[in-house]
Amino acid sequence: MYSRHFSLREAPFSITPDSAFFYPHEGAQAALNMLLVALRSGEGFLKIVGEVGCGKTVLCRQLLNTLQGECVTAYIPNPDMGPDDLLMALTHELSVDVAPPLNRHTVLNALRGCLLKHAETGRPVVVCIDEAQAIPLRTVESLRLLSNLETEKRKLLQIVLLGQPELDEKLSRPEIRQLLQRITFSEYLGPMMAQRVPAYLAHRMATAALSNATDTKVFEADAAQAIARFSGGVPRLINVLAHKCLMLAYGENEHRVNVRHVRLAAAETPGVLAAVPWWSRWKRVGRSKGAGDTKASARQVQDHHSGGSL
Ligand SMILES: Nc1ncnc2c1ncn2[C@@H]1O[C@H](COP(=O)(O)OP(=O)(O)OP(=O)(O)O)[C@@H](O)[C@H]1O
Ligand SMILES: [Mg+2]
Repeated sequence: MYSRHFSLREAPFSITPDSAFFYPHEGAQAALNMLLVALRSGEGFLKIVGEVGCGKTVLCRQLLNTLQGECVTAYIPNPDMGPDDLLMALTHELSVDVAPPLNRHTVLNALRGCLLKHAETGRPVVVCIDEAQAIPLRTVESLRLLSNLETEKRKLLQIVLLGQPELDEKLSRPEIRQLLQRITFSEYLGPMMAQRVPAYLAHRMATAALSNATDTKVFEADAAQAIARFSGGVPRLINVLAHKCLMLAYGENEHRVNVRHVRLAAAETPGVLAAVPWWSRWKRVGRSKGAGDTKASARQVQDHHSGGSL
């Protein structure tokens, strides 16, 4: 709706994890490097744990794009399934035909055959399992079976788990600690640093730009800082706020986003309040009566900020 107004080809702050918009801030680049180096050196089991909305899925997509041509890849977006279903999902992703009867033994054999064939042609097979915190405990056994697929010299299947912090809690459970021991490399993906937010905003605007003539410095410096503060550097929250700001500016026929737009956007965005500075939180805790007060609390923060630095 505001695309024409800002000379954009597409929405710059969609919350779908589109790797075309990938921005390599320090944390994301470190995680990507770790994955690439570890996978290229044949490591079998890797893990990325990150806070909600911090970019695990987009990182995974970027990884899969980077590995294209180099590896055979499979992506399991939601492993909340039974142990045999997970194995079947993998056969499906790798286009493996399993001759009946369909049971764990035949499925694993078929998978092993396929993995050996790829190993002979020198193409490692990498499976990325997103939302790994949702893997039921009983399904973890299938992961163990998969990680056992190896020759005497190397793993036949390299597994990357990506999940929210509950994944670590799950992996520390005594009954599956064995799996934890197999994870050789892991990285934490947190929010981006506040000073990267202006460049992140400009990067997404430039990626969505209609042409080189598009103005990508739409966010004023202190507006970008305010977005960094309200979002706590969490990319999904940055996107939500930035999108609302563009709508507000468009509604006023403005071509610049200013701090007032950010404050208005933040007041209407659940989830940003936890990220405001401590003095605003103190004020909120002092007056809040419960979850239903979110909007009212946001207004208090807004009022509080109107004379302040945000
Ligand atoms: N490094 C990045 N570069 C560009 N965009 C990013 C980056 N990290 C996150 N985003 C954007 O932020 C939004 C949330 O990212 P994503 O869905 O990957 O988070 P997530 O960690 O997988 O969230 P969840 O925990 O809910 O699964 C998406 O729109 C995504 O494109
Ligand atoms: Mg995700």
